[in-house]
Amino acid sequence: MEGLRNVSSHCSISDMDDYDLSRLLDKPRLNIKRERSFDERSLSELSIGLARAGLDNLDSSYSPGGRSGFDTPVSSTRNSFEPHPMVAEAWDALRRSLVFFRNQPVGTIAAYDHASEEVLNYDQVFVRDFVPSALAFLMNGEPEIVKNFLLKTLQLQGWEKRIDRFKLGEGAMPASFKVLHDPIRKTDTIHADFGESAIGRVAPVDSGFWWIILLRAYTKSTGDLSLAETTDCQKGIKLILTLCLSEGFDTFPTLLCADGCSMIDRRMGIYGYPIEIQALFFMALRCACALLKPDTEGKEFIDRISKRLHALSYHMRGYFWLDFQQLNDIYRYKTEEYSHTAVNKFNVIPDSIPDWVFDFMPTRGGYFIGNVSPARMDFRWFALGNCIAILSSLATPEQSIAIMDLIEARWEELVGEMPLKIVYPAIDSHEWRIVTGCDPKNTRWSYHNGGSWPVLLWMLTAACIKTGRPQIARKTIELAESRLLKDSWPEYYDGKLGRYIGKQARKYQTWSISGYLVAKMMLEDPSHLGMISLEEDKQMKPVIRRSSSWTC
Ligand code: GLC
Repeated sequence: MEGLRNVSSHCSISDMDDYDLSRLLDKPRLNIKRERSFDERSLSELSIGLARAGLDNLDSSYSPGGRSGFDTPVSSTRNSFEPHPMVAEAWDALRRSLVFFRNQPVGTIAAYDHASEEVLNYDQVFVRDFVPSALAFLMNGEPEIVKNFLLKTLQLQGWEKRIDRFKLGEGAMPASFKVLHDPIRKTDTIHADFGESAIGRVAPVDSGFWWIILLRAYTKSTGDLSLAETTDCQKGIKLILTLCLSEGFDTFPTLLCADGCSMIDRRMGIYGYPIEIQALFFMALRCACALLKPDTEGKEFIDRISKRLHALSYHMRGYFWLDFQQLNDIYRYKTEEYSHTAVNKFNVIPDSIPDWVFDFMPTRGGYFIGNVSPARMDFRWFALGNCIAILSSLATPEQSIAIMDLIEARWEELVGEMPLKIVYPAIDSHEWRIVTGCDPKNTRWSYHNGGSWPVLLWMLTAACIKTGRPQIARKTIELAESRLLKDSWPEYYDGKLGRYIGKQARKYQTWSISGYLVAKMMLEDPSHLGMISLEEDKQMKPVIRRSSSWTC
């Protein structure tokens, strides 16, 4: 504990969290004081005893051990206005998806869709899918299940993992796990999938990052530092870091990944340096920095992390950023430049810029593009990466504003009738054949190829609150409310505007349900944002570049 105080300033939790929440609010301020009194006390100052005292200030949002799993949600009882009828339905559906291991809740299944002929692995607890469920439970003052999940997955990390004759890295976290109940022997066992059973044998690079981000959310929400400080958790963090900070032949600070490494877990041309992973990588590094105990080994990791964070933010903010000015510059690039004076560092051929991006780019606004590597810029918009860039402060404040400007300017394309398009635009015809390998599930404007995913609502809401645009969040939540319950909480919607329930979408998809609840609770009480958002790090100065959207 003592040690945490000594973490270099740009790594301490306190630094990340000193929001001026008041600027974000146009809602009842009732619950704000409570969290602020907690926020103002840096987590690094808390001893376990102090943490307990701090928790007393959290009044209704936290009642240690006191809530049964089937109570009325706290959030609806403390509402100063009538809760939407969907909220209670959503809580019921979320609780139906709970998975128990030896009578303890350890997660939520991906989908509770009895009508679907094929279960595949939707009856498993996915690490990424559980994140919005976890946030909903934390916001509702039920941290136990989150703690159980964190510990259970940590245990799974410790397993020896093999695919055929190949042994996976020690730090790898599973994509998902399943609890098998034996009714005769009355025993529960766990089967975990690290990619060895997954369709396409894809590596869940995002799992470890989500695990660290969730551990920080749990710590921040409960004030309970004791979990993160256990030897097991510290080891788990370090094992994940060892995997992603290891040295190789890389010339970039970004993390090299194979296709299918994230929420988009099929071939979709995201191999290379996908924004989805880079943003999560950045956020997980910042969270790890705040959670690590600065003993001798911890300090070494903290040092490596801060070096990587500096290089990563420089690289991302400069090379992945696209706005009108930048697009125009790339359009006029010279090629074949040699040496450090090169302007077109990655030798991008202007002819490779797709036509759509010229129309798509508004005069005001910008975004982080999908991928950057030699002679390759993937200009597609990816929602998760851009929202996480805002939440982690990978995006500078100006860039965050520009991303929100772009969403507003391209509302029809990115939100349409159902938030939120996972990728824009869809790929089609020859490109679809080459990029997806003719994947019939990923035809244009469906699933990962331009489908609309309700789960993304919580990330957009959080980004809206952080950038002071709650009215956008309200608008998107209303869109979701007009369809989600009626359509039985589909996994995704299809079509250019997201009007159709997805071709192979599961119903009662848990993260569609919990994503909605998290969005609602955050809008109702924006102080929840602190759980999942990191304040700008003043030491990571933005790259100075010419850019219209940065200056206006
Ligand atoms: C699909 C999604 C993936 C999700 C899983 C479980 O495979 O692509 O992101 O984790 O379903 O819902």
